[in-house]
Amino acid sequence: MQVKHGFKIPLMRPIVDQEMLQAALLSLQNEKLVMGESVYKFEEEFARYCGVRHAVSTASGTAALQIALQSMGIQESDEVITTPFSFFATSNAVIHAGAQPRFADVENDGFNLDPQKVEARLAPDTRAIIPVHLYGHPARMDEFRDLAEDKGISIIEDDCQAHGAEYNGRRVGSIGHVGCFSFYTSKNMTVCGDGGMIVTNDEKVADAARSFRDCGRASKYTMQRIGYTSRLNTVNAAIGRVQLRRLDKWNEARRRIANLYRTELEGTASVELPPADTPGTTSVYHLFVVRSNHRDQLALHLEKNGVEAAIHYPIPIHLQTPYRTRYRYSEGTFPQAERLAGRVLSLPIHPAITEEEVRTVARLVRDPAISK
Ligand SMILES: Cc1ncc(COP(=O)(O)O)c(C=O)c1O
Repeated sequence: MQVKHGFKIPLMRPIVDQEMLQAALLSLQNEKLVMGESVYKFEEEFARYCGVRHAVSTASGTAALQIALQSMGIQESDEVITTPFSFFATSNAVIHAGAQPRFADVENDGFNLDPQKVEARLAPDTRAIIPVHLYGHPARMDEFRDLAEDKGISIIEDDCQAHGAEYNGRRVGSIGHVGCFSFYTSKNMTVCGDGGMIVTNDEKVADAARSFRDCGRASKYTMQRIGYTSRLNTVNAAIGRVQLRRLDKWNEARRRIANLYRTELEGTASVELPPADTPGTTSVYHLFVVRSNHRDQLALHLEKNGVEAAIHYPIPIHLQTPYRTRYRYSEGTFPQAERLAGRVLSLPIHPAITEEEVRTVARLVRDPAISK
């Protein structure tokens, strides 16, 4: 089934095939609509995929992050350091959990949180760090782990854009204390609706998360904490199980597309390509993001020619109105994030894009008129 769109070459295209439709139908006909068998099977299979002992599904990636934080006992007056250059749900979840988000700037030559800049922002109240594997590129987890071990703080991975990515031979989600995924419809794998997953080897955190996402239950009519109605629906889990089986093949296709973009765009003066994988890391190219000093001109040029491009993200989180108001942030606080916000452009990438389409996009990006 193809989703209709107004562009000749769309940025992304969710996949819904016959097997997914069949799985959805069967689950609706045969299972409990909430917390049916498919939910538990999806959790088991997702935990195995990530190489961890526990996976707890939730209603969204934001809920996964919030519940993970609360399940680890993070609370009011605790500080959590994260990146200002992410989707704003990352730091919103910290606020939802009742804690204080604190930002550190991103790397000078990449998109992710910079461990050295995090170190400089550590304070006595810092309880956790949330590195985000932005666009599917793994963050520098060894350095974060060393930092966290040294200072006795926890790492919560935001894996919402990086299903299946690897860092030093380990799948993301299994490296920090806890990992959080989103299955929103644009992600590398989806549940055809909203959904999320918390993964961890920590049984206590997993048990608390299971209770938090299910009204704070200890048992059916006994409550052990003030929880949420934040469960993944059975029908979505049934679709997620099928998508998970496709994930490696889709990620492989994304990497092939990224390589083709690299070959096609190598040496193009007006754009800077995304950082290549370092030994041991495997990106999953949730997005293929170029940087350009002529970004807006390039975006318009692509749009006029039927190519959908997008900006992830035009405003860093600290400069969003609620953050400016609440924390008095202003321009110049995180210069690297602010610079990226003015230069990044996401080009179309999804498993079904053809080589010809990639070459068409690349030809438009190479247009010599762009940098004039
Ligand atoms: C980096 C990042 N963190 C958190 C989220 C929140 O996930 P959700 O939209 O499922 O709540 C998203 C995606 O939407 C994301 O891209």
